[in-house]
Amino acid sequence: MDQKEIKINYAYYESIADCSADDQILLQACKDALIDSYSPYSNFKVGSAVLLANGKIVKGSNQENVAYPMCECAERVAMYNAWHQYPKVSFMKIAVTTYSSIKSDTPPAPPCGACRQVIFEYEERFEKAIEILLLSQSGKIIKFKSARDLLPLAFGKDFLI
Ligand code: THU
Repeated sequence: MDQKEIKINYAYYESIADCSADDQILLQACKDALIDSYSPYSNFKVGSAVLLANGKIVKGSNQENVAYPMCECAERVAMYNAWHQYPKVSFMKIAVTTYSSIKSDTPPAPPCGACRQVIFEYEERFEKAIEILLLSQSGKIIKFKSARDLLPLAFGKDFLI
């Protein structure tokens, strides 16, 4: 038996000011997206923004429903919105932030498992890694180079075709 280990690389920034100019703009866009969150059941706002290869930024926020399983995550709203506005234009980066009136001092919140799988699907479609930036309410940032870092041993198209 071989014991294996998977290591994950990520960058940590103390504040938005420490990030690149491109990243600062994208992080501000995901913060701006919080305003359109529809989250009366969780009171947990999530904002997301996708930077496309054509330089456009497309936003999304979580959209809840009284039938809880139908709640849509901000990341997927942003990605599907981006694809529909600019079909086939690849994604460079996706940024996510959260706002809670109950808990403000949490680490940057990562995308849920389903959103990680959807980001990975776009990586496979575009054959290109998508950077993932996570911004906490208090302004700390974690940055991953690819969905693969958040989804080790990912289930991808190589298993099927
Ligand atoms: N949520 C997101 O928008 N993205 C995630 O990756 C995790 C969870 C939303 C769904 C729901 O509206 C609220 O956060 C609480 O789970």
